[in-house]
Amino acid sequence: MAPEIRRSLVQHSRLRRDPHARLRALLDRVPPGTHPTRPTAELEERLADLLGKPAALFFPTGTMAQQTALRVHADRLGPRAFAAHPRNHLVLWEEQGYQVVHGLRHRPVGDHHRLFTLADLDGVREPLSALLVELPQREIGGLLPAWEDLVAHTSWARDRGVATHLDGARLWEAQPFYDRPHAGIAALFDTVYVSLYKGLEGVRGAVLAGDRETVDLASVWRTRLGGAVTDAWPLTAAALLGLDTALPRMAAYRDHAVALAAAINADGYARTVPEVPHTPLFHVLVPAPAEAVTAAARRILEETGVELPAHASTSPDPNRSAIELTVGEPALDFTPAEVAELIRALR
Ligand SMILES: Cc1ncc(COP(=O)(O)O)c(C=O)c1O
Repeated sequence: MAPEIRRSLVQHSRLRRDPHARLRALLDRVPPGTHPTRPTAELEERLADLLGKPAALFFPTGTMAQQTALRVHADRLGPRAFAAHPRNHLVLWEEQGYQVVHGLRHRPVGDHHRLFTLADLDGVREPLSALLVELPQREIGGLLPAWEDLVAHTSWARDRGVATHLDGARLWEAQPFYDRPHAGIAALFDTVYVSLYKGLEGVRGAVLAGDRETVDLASVWRTRLGGAVTDAWPLTAAALLGLDTALPRMAAYRDHAVALAAAINADGYARTVPEVPHTPLFHVLVPAPAEAVTAAARRILEETGVELPAHASTSPDPNRSAIELTVGEPALDFTPAEVAELIRALR
């Protein structure tokens, strides 16, 4: 039997995703007489407005939304290649859907463990249809480029007639770092995907925003791919709730992440990447093999009911591994000293 979780440092803990509690929280968002398509229409309007784009469209997953965006850019512009960081979500976690389903090719830019630079982009010689930028770059600790670099990277693409696409799965979490309106960040991109269930702590789902023509073409692909879910209201109503409750708390989440990282680094057993988190998501480099870290997390859960990430990534050094921490509502419940002590027990 799965151990009981009493408190959790995991963003997608089953504690937070409990269907009964979720449905209760949704009741006020879906008053009697609500038309079944209303929450989705309201969400699309609200996100188009927040992101400063003429149109926005619900997708069941970010995976479908992003492959669709890249497909539409490629069909319009011609080249089948898109440039992106070597460790982006499409390459690592989507079974090469961009290639198998859409005939697209990924041109990696930059080092595996760093953000890409303008010099890396200048090294790209082949024609591209799109530049995909992931904000923050999840797999390397949730790093964000400085604003001037972001402007330079997107200008590089625009100067060459290459479409710019934002993987904004965590745009909500990235925004306090830039201290600019969401629309100001989104303005650098032709298409923007945002997630409805990560920082917003919704159920699932995604939205793709852009100009009307692009979003209309994306809508055709959404139907072709089987993603035109008419009554998506459980997902979109949960996202509306998240916009009201979680979005205003992103800076507080980031500040708590900074406090947790400071305590972990001061303790000295493990080290965070980056040293000062840019977003509520950051990585903890632990001086123990991944298997030992996951076994310790399991033991802590069984003994105390405290849930830590069940997965640790390996590194080239077999005696070091990394875990990803994300501060949302559940992690606010932990003091920095408590988290440093829990991390110290991962051995
Ligand atoms: C950076 C990034 N992009 C895209 C996605 C895809 O989102 P979805 O799970 O909705 O397909 C994820 C999901 O974890 C992600 O972390």
